[in-house]
Amino acid sequence: MKLLCNARLHGREGAFDIEIDGDRFGRVLPAGQGSGEEWIDAAGGLVSPPFVEPHVHLDTTLTAGEPRWNASGSLWEGIAVWSERKRALTRDDVVSRATEVLRWYAANGVLHVRSHVDVTDPGLVALDAMLEVRDRVRDVVDLQLVAFPQEGIRSFDGGADLLAEAARRGVDAVGAIPHFEDTREDGVRSLETAFEIAAEHGLMLDAHCDEIDDEQSRFVEVLATLARRTGLRGRATASHTTAMGSYNGAYSYKLQRILARAGVNLVSNPLANLCLQGRFDGYPKRRGLTQVKEMLGAGVNVAFGHDDVMDPWFPLGTASLLQVALVGVAAAQLTGPAEIDEAFAMVTERAARVLGLGDRYGVAEGRPASFVVLPAASRFDAVRRQTRPTHVVSRGRLIAETPATPTRLTWPGEEPRDIDFVRDRDR
Ligand code: FE2
Repeated sequence: MKLLCNARLHGREGAFDIEIDGDRFGRVLPAGQGSGEEWIDAAGGLVSPPFVEPHVHLDTTLTAGEPRWNASGSLWEGIAVWSERKRALTRDDVVSRATEVLRWYAANGVLHVRSHVDVTDPGLVALDAMLEVRDRVRDVVDLQLVAFPQEGIRSFDGGADLLAEAARRGVDAVGAIPHFEDTREDGVRSLETAFEIAAEHGLMLDAHCDEIDDEQSRFVEVLATLARRTGLRGRATASHTTAMGSYNGAYSYKLQRILARAGVNLVSNPLANLCLQGRFDGYPKRRGLTQVKEMLGAGVNVAFGHDDVMDPWFPLGTASLLQVALVGVAAAQLTGPAEIDEAFAMVTERAARVLGLGDRYGVAEGRPASFVVLPAASRFDAVRRQTRPTHVVSRGRLIAETPATPTRLTWPGEEPRDIDFVRDRDR
């Protein structure tokens, strides 16, 4: 038995010892009462379940500028640039880029990742490469793959067959992109096709849905209704849904009920969508985000994702979900203290619900011993100061360490001292 000592836990007063029994959590006890060999001293830092990435595109990652930059910055030019880059894809290219970013995720304490993979490629090069990556990283990162028809299920020749073939090759979820299909009717049919394939193979569904500033784009109601009818309650996700940022109040109210009843998850990607949306607006320029606060208030599960790390849709990123949470706070105006805690939950527990992790996730006896130690007093503090985890543990194995290093500041009239951005009265 090993011991994680002097840990702070969200929502609980005091310090704790947490017993680690092999790859599982043992008992959680008041500090000083745990038994076992002292292993990690959390030093009063916050012990949290690992961060969960509910939405990224690992096959496109680290390609920003190849073969050219996205000059307009729009989603549509991003798709066109990717379509050009896709012709040069090889297995090695995909494996090396995706693995590099998964290392960044792991270093940042992100141990569960859902990646979409473009399957509108007759060779399915990226899909086969990502299936291989999923196996290779299995001991450290739990990777889910979504078959994502980037260029359409009906608009792309053979799109439905490629999606079905991807399901046969072993993805975890089936995707769609109804707002990109040529007509409204094709959009609806594409969702029906995706749900049929998901049902046939017993898979989850995660569609890029209404990622456009067009208030007429209303496929999320179709997705929710199909989820309810096909028994995919809690296992269907609508990603992006940025058109919702332009819906009128009456329709939004109706939608809240439809989504809550169907148990559909939403994933908002503030970094990418703040950049991609509003590109065709003059001023006032829309934020182009889904209705995060309102949907949370209506009982809908909403998570935050990164979406893109250095690719044609977003040129920056270090695979940090604390950064995503911080931008999410600003983008969705989640500025109350409980709302900032909620933003943290949107990259941990709420994202875990999107992935359907159930009792495979969380700091509790009997569950897999995967966690991060954050040198922070609270979730609020971790979001504000963007603290890197000092320790990342995956199923009982320490995989990453980052010493907390303050900045030495020499200030006029004072002795040099360490600055860590903690307010003096909070010490
Ligand atoms: Fe996406």
